[in-house]
Amino acid sequence: MSRFSLPRYPIIQAPMAGGITTVDLVTAVANAGAVGSFGFAYSTADVIASDLAQCRAGTDGALLANFFVVEEPAEPSQADREAACAALEALAFKGGVYSQPQPPYVMDLTAQLAPIWKQPPTYLTFHFGVPSQDIMARAHALGIAVGISATNVSEAKEIAAAGADFIIAQGIEAGGHRGTFEAAPLSDEALSTQALTSALAKNTSLPIVAAGGIMTASHIKEALAAGAVAVQMGTAFLAADEAGTAPSYREALCEVPCRATALTTHFSGRVARSLQNEFITRMAGQPYLPFPIQNRMTGHCGAPQQSQAQPNIKVCGRELALLTFRKGQPLRFWQSFALNYN
Ligand SMILES: Cc1cc2nc3c(=O)[nH]c(=O)nc-3n(C[C@H](O)[C@H](O)[C@H](O)COP(=O)(O)O)c2cc1C
Repeated sequence: MSRFSLPRYPIIQAPMAGGITTVDLVTAVANAGAVGSFGFAYSTADVIASDLAQCRAGTDGALLANFFVVEEPAEPSQADREAACAALEALAFKGGVYSQPQPPYVMDLTAQLAPIWKQPPTYLTFHFGVPSQDIMARAHALGIAVGISATNVSEAKEIAAAGADFIIAQGIEAGGHRGTFEAAPLSDEALSTQALTSALAKNTSLPIVAAGGIMTASHIKEALAAGAVAVQMGTAFLAADEAGTAPSYREALCEVPCRATALTTHFSGRVARSLQNEFITRMAGQPYLPFPIQNRMTGHCGAPQQSQAQPNIKVCGRELALLTFRKGQPLRFWQSFALNYN
């Protein structure tokens, strides 16, 4: 019997690590009949425990917790470190101070998951790879459905073989980090959300959740027609009143009428889709350190101040999506998607 079932609407508000998926946002989405998700990849066990408890006090709805599966990177040489620092310092962005992270660079997944076993969410998802069989078994023993992101058919087959309950088909349009299993894949098929969803629906028997560039009721319908059972939407929720999105980030999303997006490795050390900005242009071809060392250096994790001049804007979607933002309050327009969807 499938562990994967959906609430009223086949819509998952995407997990977005770094303070965006607040208790208020996740609770509001779950109470609205969709899946509210926490991006816990950069959170400590204490924060995870507290967020889950606060959220459960406000909703009986469907909750999702998301983590990254990444290995500790090798310590960079002094020369590589200096080159990466020099590239960032040369930008002389406002504030201009880049932190010098020390190992361990990757958070301890076992410690992060401890609160999950005490307060089980409805779904547990992973980005960048397949978690251990021990984690899968523990989740399943608690009745938690496990989902893992795939960007191509071969990753999807690995996910199915590992015993996951659903697959998130992350197309090339998706905002945030591209969830490839390889940190620096030699080649990337760069399949669109539609093409990937169709390919995965044909090649695996697991439920598929489509993610990437989905902003309107008609996008949702297209994804379902391509074989998805649900969609995962990130950018659509970034400017929601309840989201923890920094003011400058909202401003860039909502005030600028039309902005291109781009893939870059320079924010974090892994490929991510962002609004095209000066940071990306000026860092092109410059040295950088592996994920998550570069991520810490550019101050993504909990940076208290974000300004358009700082390299923290990690966002994406179709240009149409950005136009929609100007209307503000995405949670409200999400509710209208839901109405249109019916
Ligand atoms: C700002 C931002 C942060 C994200 N962080 C995560 C994350 O922590 N974990 C994850 O699995 N996906 C993350 N994603 C990717 C989403 O799960 C999803 O694939 C993507 O938002 C779908 O594309 P869309 O933004 O066009 O809707 C993030 C996306 C954005 C925009």
